[in-house]
Amino acid sequence: MFSFFQKKMPLTNLFPADFVDIHSHFLPNIDDGSKSMDESVALLRRMHGFGIKNIICTPHVMESVWENSSETIQRKLDALNAHLKNIEFTDITLRTAAEYMLDANFDRLLKTEKLLTLKDSYILVELSFLNAPINLYETLFQIQIAGYKPVLAHPERYSYFHNDFKEYAKLKAAGCWFQLNLLSLSNYYGSSVTSVALQLLKHQLIDFTGTDTHKQHHLDFLEKVVDGKVLKLIEPILGANAFFRE
Ligand SMILES: [Fe+2]
Repeated sequence: MFSFFQKKMPLTNLFPADFVDIHSHFLPNIDDGSKSMDESVALLRRMHGFGIKNIICTPHVMESVWENSSETIQRKLDALNAHLKNIEFTDITLRTAAEYMLDANFDRLLKTEKLLTLKDSYILVELSFLNAPINLYETLFQIQIAGYKPVLAHPERYSYFHNDFKEYAKLKAAGCWFQLNLLSLSNYYGSSVTSVALQLLKHQLIDFTGTDTHKQHHLDFLEKVVDGKVLKLIEPILGANAFFRE
């Protein structure tokens, strides 16, 4: 057989034209993502090469680590958009939300601020990688009482849920929407994360996807997702992100 016919189609060739990346760190010098305007542009050019032209930038909002506010985030987006216009890279649409860590600061923000949403009332939230917050279910309840819909970032990455798969069903029952990191389909985060990602897909628990891109290395790994069985599981889900188009 000619090698041409054996060439594998990577995940990065499968994005629908209306795909919206709902989780990314392209705003420069605001969190652990892009470190400069030039790096942001280089990353965005690569995303554009994958056919991704709609992106929501979601900088971390995390107490004592990344204390970003809606205003600082919006200013960064305005600066990046102005730069893209200057260099005539306009075939890409960026907007902003945030990736809110569910910590004590979040509980305060929820009571006092208007949160940045992905669209309508959907907010992107993350949990500590060490342990789930003791008041997790109370916070999820309060989020919804306040009129928001919580989209949980990368549920497959919380190792404390890995041995208790029922917890995922419980989170969904408590009103969480699940956003899988596409990078979890590579071995970037390790085999147990990949295994849980595939189980969540098989159980149809994943609602949306995101790249969670911070740096070039992440995109290198995204290009390595080529396994046909994995692509068959993820491809039908990619279409769901069109919901976030504006
Ligand atoms: Fe993130």
